[in-house]
Amino acid sequence: MVLIRCYEAADREACRDLWVELTLHHRRIYGVDTIGGEDPGSQFDEHLMAVGPERVWVAELEGAIVGLAGLIIDGTSGEVEPVVVTELRRGAGIGRALVSKVVDEAASLGVRLLSVRPVGRNTSAIQFFRDAGFDVLGHIETFMDLSGEREWVPGETIADRDFKM
Ligand SMILES: CC(C)(COP(=O)(O)OP(=O)(O)OC[C@H]1O[C@@H](n2cnc3c(N)ncnc32)[C@H](O)[C@@H]1OP(=O)(O)O)[C@@H](O)C(=O)NCCC(=O)NCCS
Repeated sequence: MVLIRCYEAADREACRDLWVELTLHHRRIYGVDTIGGEDPGSQFDEHLMAVGPERVWVAELEGAIVGLAGLIIDGTSGEVEPVVVTELRRGAGIGRALVSKVVDEAASLGVRLLSVRPVGRNTSAIQFFRDAGFDVLGHIETFMDLSGEREWVPGETIADRDFKM
């Protein structure tokens, strides 16, 4: 049985590793190996410092940390960020359990609108969040790529218009 619990100092290395996995996932889907910079694990430390340990949760399975989730609060708005489950343990309900915990905590803190902001090409995450109850389309953010360096692929249709991703 997976245990979802609040972050503790001893979890730091495991959480840094999970942040690296999150970065590798984004590098893979975009085919860009510079995403996340040279030390992506350090972004966990920055996140922890920004939100505080009481807004970070881990999934523990057989003594190992296999997942990580966080909650960013801004007034009565909240954002689930990040959510990552170690690759070998995906598809077993751990991500759903982490998100449920974050949703419960957000509700108990008086959050009225809770958001998630997966990147456009992270189709599996979009499906995961939609299936977890995020069924309202809030803002959309579109890019005009002035660098011309990235390769975009055909993406989604929103408001009857096609977007690359
Ligand atoms: C997204 C992620 C956190 C989901 O965690 P998980 O433990 O694998 O997900 P769960 O097993 O709890 O899945 C719950 C439900 O989400 C949906 N889902 C999960 N993974 C999915 C996938 N790859 N494609 C489509 N739907 C998916 C399904 O509805 C699933 O329910 P089911 O198993 O009954 O079909 C995990 O795949 C992950 O770490 N991905 C890489 C990092 C990432 O993209 N994080 C989100 C960044 S915003």
